[in-house]
Amino acid sequence: MEERQRTVALIGPGRAGTTIALGLVEQDWTVVGVGGRAPDAPSTVAAAAVLATGTGLVSEVARGAALVIIATPDRAIEQVLLAAEPSIEPGALVVHLAGSRGLDVYSALLDRRTGVRVGAMHPLQTFPSATTGVERLAGAWAAVAGDPEVAEIARSLGLRPFDLADSDRGRYHAAAVIASNHLIALLGQVERLAATCAVPFEAFAPLVTGSVRNAFALGPADALTGPVARGDLTTVEQHLRDLDPAERDAYRALAREAARLTGRRDTGLDRLLGDLRQPPATPGDD
Ligand SMILES: NC(=O)c1ccc[n+]([C@@H]2O[C@H](COP(=O)([O-])OP(=O)(O)OC[C@H]3O[C@@H](n4cnc5c(N)ncnc54)[C@H](OP(=O)(O)O)[C@@H]3O)[C@@H](O)[C@H]2O)c1
Repeated sequence: MEERQRTVALIGPGRAGTTIALGLVEQDWTVVGVGGRAPDAPSTVAAAAVLATGTGLVSEVARGAALVIIATPDRAIEQVLLAAEPSIEPGALVVHLAGSRGLDVYSALLDRRTGVRVGAMHPLQTFPSATTGVERLAGAWAAVAGDPEVAEIARSLGLRPFDLADSDRGRYHAAAVIASNHLIALLGQVERLAATCAVPFEAFAPLVTGSVRNAFALGPADALTGPVARGDLTTVEQHLRDLDPAERDAYRALAREAARLTGRRDTGLDRLLGDLRQPPATPGDD
């Protein structure tokens, strides 16, 4: 194998990029340079230190790299590719990590450069910091597209690659956002409600982890328990009455999703959950 085949440049020295680059270093890749907003930007300097390499301008950093990882915010990818183009080597593989962007981001680059290979690799995992993520790679799935070497690289990092077409990317990324960010937002609601009754947030941890385990073991529909699954309208009504009005929209929206999972129609429940703006009925109302 030529020396150039295991050289990588990182553009976008944040959480995901540094994690992937560290994973590649563990697989005997050499990082030839790190480019960020500026060579002396704190994140660029920090990533270069972790990866035992130097910093450079985005327009120069890809020189000598067989692999160029683009790990900037999604909206910056095209602009970064434009800036990096002069230093991208013939035959190099350029891979971005964005879940929301496909191979379309490369159209301007490929118009100008033949022989450059491109791909996308989106790890279905969360990297909360630049240095604590490497151990999270093993066993995580990753959406890949483009050059076949992308899947090979993903596998070498311990990821489980699956193909994703650009036309499916919007819905795929929405699912990933729901699985990660919306789940956290939901736990924020649990934390707020727990605080109002002086119950520690941690008390809900076994319930949450058990429910998630059940959803993957049994499928979401069979894992569903609770008042909506039981058709217990009185309890749902009581919840809506007791909740702060600011908490009701989310409760109703998710209870409707739970009702959808049961596959049953219940006109009483439909009425209760139907209009997000309606206050819940108080006892005595008709
Ligand atoms: N974090 C995750 O859990 C995760 C998981 C899977 C995929 N991804 C994907 O990975 C990519 C990066 O996400 P992230 O979470 O790692 O973000 P991040 O921590 O904010 O890192 C982005 C990095 O890009 C740098 N940057 C911003 N604009 C730039 C530009 N114009 N030129 C060069 N560098 C620039 C930022 O510099 P500053 O530090 O100076 O702001 C920062 O170092 C995204 O496409 C995201 O979808 C992230």
